[in-house]
Amino acid sequence: MKFLAVFGNPISHSKSPRMHNNAIKSLGLDAIYTRYLLNDEKLLKEKLLSLKLSGANITVPFKNEALKIADFKDDMAVKIGSANTLIIGENGKISAYNTDAPGFLQSISTFKNIKKALILGAGGTSKALAFALLDKGVEVFVANRSKERLKEFSFCQNSLYSDLNEKKFDIVINSTSVGLKDDTLPCDEALLKELLRESIYAFDVIYGKETPFIKLCKNFNLQYKDGLEMLLWQGVFAFELFFNIKNKQELIKKYMLEALNL
Ligand code: ATR
Repeated sequence: MKFLAVFGNPISHSKSPRMHNNAIKSLGLDAIYTRYLLNDEKLLKEKLLSLKLSGANITVPFKNEALKIADFKDDMAVKIGSANTLIIGENGKISAYNTDAPGFLQSISTFKNIKKALILGAGGTSKALAFALLDKGVEVFVANRSKERLKEFSFCQNSLYSDLNEKKFDIVINSTSVGLKDDTLPCDEALLKELLRESIYAFDVIYGKETPFIKLCKNFNLQYKDGLEMLLWQGVFAFELFFNIKNKQELIKKYMLEALNL
């Protein structure tokens, strides 16, 4: 029997246990997936091992630590500097992966011919999306309201919203959690309108709520998507790693989506 868990703080809101357990049950696998509220990142490795887990998902704020403690680190996770999926071998060796990046790419696979992307926000999510797009040969710009976090984006073009000269992108992505709890936009409305007018696609990492960003998208002639598919695909890719399963992606995704509606 496999024991799996998601670690984070806070963690009670996490949808991962429901998603994974429904896929486990529906596929008839012998495993259980639970959640663990971690208070101190220094205890991450110790807990993974003492709980005898065979795999884990790691969420905010422990994704950087998840990469640090790993013995094997997937290339994409190293580039991004964080991991959201860990596999623990029987010898106690930990392998780290980032399934947010491929999850994002898979979720926008219906958006064709993206050559130039603008990501709003410069947090950990932004970094995963930026590297995912760069990996596909897309020219990436990251814009943010303040300078400090842009320092970590020297691998791509970056600027303050107020200094953004370029206005024509194929896709505009909101990577911030702005709009989740409040009714605000990630940047100035006039700027965002200008960007959306020029764009073909838009994407918001937030799901389960129509954000002001998505509401604004509806006024423009573009295709847009929220973060639900990304949530599902990062889960599907983690599940494949946990169980070493291939060729069941659509089925796993279907069971994970079903869990969200239970
Ligand atoms: P993560 O991406 O790691 O989940 P986050 O805390 O959700 O991180 O988002 C961080 C990003 O959202 C940062 O770019 C932050 O901007 P600052 O670097 O200037 O703090 C951006 N952000 C957070 N609140 C914002 C707001 N009210 N308006 C605009 N951007 C905001």
